[in-house]
Amino acid sequence: MAAAPEFMYGTAWKEERTPALTELALRSGFRAIDTANQRRHYFEAGVGQALAAAYQAGIVTRADLFLQTKFTYRPGQDHRLPYDPEAELSAQVAQSMASSLEHLGTDHVDSYVLHGPASGHGWTEYDAEVWEAMVRERGAGRTRQLGVSNVSLRHLFQLEASGAELPAFVQNRCFARLGWDRDVRAYCAERKIVYQGFSLLTANPEVLHHPLVARIAARLEATPAQVVFRFARAVGMLPLTGTSSAEHMKQDLASLTLSLSAEEARAIESLSG
Ligand SMILES: NC(=O)c1ccc[n+]([C@@H]2O[C@H](COP(=O)([O-])OP(=O)(O)OC[C@H]3O[C@@H](n4cnc5c(N)ncnc54)[C@H](OP(=O)(O)O)[C@@H]3O)[C@@H](O)[C@H]2O)c1
Repeated sequence: MAAAPEFMYGTAWKEERTPALTELALRSGFRAIDTANQRRHYFEAGVGQALAAAYQAGIVTRADLFLQTKFTYRPGQDHRLPYDPEAELSAQVAQSMASSLEHLGTDHVDSYVLHGPASGHGWTEYDAEVWEAMVRERGAGRTRQLGVSNVSLRHLFQLEASGAELPAFVQNRCFARLGWDRDVRAYCAERKIVYQGFSLLTANPEVLHHPLVARIAARLEATPAQVVFRFARAVGMLPLTGTSSAEHMKQDLASLTLSLSAEEARAIESLSG
């Protein structure tokens, strides 16, 4: 497996531009790619086309990459399903995984994520069945690690209380006004779960326009978006970007080397919540 990723390129909402943009991300230096077997928002086979092109061009090998995909329940899908909706949930997981591996042209992914629990209120028996099936996929070598997405602290506590194996990753939308998902991040930190944050820019326009962030950006000769991504790393997150811009791809990766002080990171952390 590739080294632990520092930044992840997200492939949602790119439709027919998915192959070209994913290949551009690889050429720009991204080595971790996030997708999902959910045709409604992702074109996973297009990600696979980009990978094949990048291997062919000698940009990367499979071993250089961290590939993450997801299992999505029926209500999150449109009519383009990667499984038989009449099948048991555990069979749907196996079918979705087989389809992902085919799309991505690989025999394993590095991380397999439950896209979202069945209910917003808690960890249900459906989630328990799916999670068990995902653990079996890991046991069979089709993924190295497992994750959950769009979860609350309650979901995580209930999953843990059920005695099930804990995820290696939690992927959540990260709102600054909720202390950048402070409670879930603290839960993850205590258990060595890596927190993946998405919508760091789009969920937090007030931060991008905040004078504190503008001051730090000016000091670092960087953009506010770069400051947000650097901050995310500083507090232990693995950030995602889904930018379609070559310039932003470069800027996002370059943000990793900005010298943000611990005091600045603390100030950003408590900006709006
Ligand atoms: N688990 C889930 O349910 C879930 C949900 C949503 C997203 N995700 C994952 O997270 C990924 C990222 O999604 P996101 O919601 O964070 O939004 P995003 O797709 O990364 O969108 C970021 C927006 O900010 C703009 N932007 C401006 N300056 C930028 C800069 N320097 N760097 C990057 N973007 C900049 C981008 O415009 P330009 O394109 O012009 O740069 C874009 O419009 C997705 O592709 C997907 O893989 C997962």
